[in-house]
Amino acid sequence: MEREVRNKYADESQVRGTIGFFDSGIGGVSVVREFRRLRPEAAVYYIADWEHCPYGGKPESLVRERAHDLTRMLVSRGCQVVVVACNTATALAIDSLRTAFDVPFVGMEPAVKPAAMHSKSGVVGILATEGTFHGRLFKETSARFADRARIVTAVGRGFVERVESGDVDSTQTEAVVREAIQPLLDAGADHLVLGCTHYPFLKTVIRKVAGPDIVIVDPSLPVALRAAELLDQALAAGGGRP
Ligand code: DGL
Repeated sequence: MEREVRNKYADESQVRGTIGFFDSGIGGVSVVREFRRLRPEAAVYYIADWEHCPYGGKPESLVRERAHDLTRMLVSRGCQVVVVACNTATALAIDSLRTAFDVPFVGMEPAVKPAAMHSKSGVVGILATEGTFHGRLFKETSARFADRARIVTAVGRGFVERVESGDVDSTQTEAVVREAIQPLLDAGADHLVLGCTHYPFLKTVIRKVAGPDIVIVDPSLPVALRAAELLDQALAAGGGRP
C-alpha cells in the first residue's frame, strides 16, 4: 500500500497552492523539506510507494505504470504541480507523464552539469540507481559534458534499503557506502553527485567515507526552487487553491 500524507493547517484559509510529490519511499522527503522551507503556506501531498520500493532495479514498464497511477492520485487531490521526487521514475517515465497529464511536472536527473563545470580533477562521480543510468536523460546529459570531465558511475547498492530502515549511520551502512563510492574515489573524482533522492539521508556517512575535500552535489534545493517557481506560476495563472 502506498501511504499518502498531507500537511495540516489550523486555519485552511492560510493555504496557498497545492503541490504533490511522489517517490518509491521516503527519499523524496529530501526535496519536500527544502520546499517546505521555501513555501510553508503551500498544501503538500506526498506519496511513498512502499509496496513497489525500491524502483531501482524494477522493469521500466512497472515504474512507468506506478508513476502514472500516483500522478493520477495527486491530480485528483487538486495538485497544481507534480514533483517526480525520484530520479528513477523521472528517467523512466517523465516523457510519458508529460504527454498524458496536463499539469506542470518537475523531474529530477543527476546534476552532471554543475559537477562537470566545477571539477578541478576532471573526474566526476555519479551515484544513482540502475534505472536512472539506463534512462535517456542520463545518457544524453553525460554525453553532453563528456568533454568537460570524465564521468564515472556507481549504483548505490543497498543505500535505499538502509535509508528506508532508518539505519543511516551504523558501521554496516558505512561499509555499504564505502563499497559503492571507493571506486569513484580511486578514479580521482572530486565531486560526488547524489543521483537518487534517498542518498541525501546518507550524506553524513558519505562525507565520512569520502573525506572533507570532496564536493557532494545534492540537487534537493534547486529542485525545490523550481517547484516553488512553477507553483507560483500556476497560482498566478489560475488564481487560488482548487
Ligand atoms: N529515490 C528514488 C530515486 O531518486 C528511487 C530509489 C529506488 O527506489 O530505488 O531514484
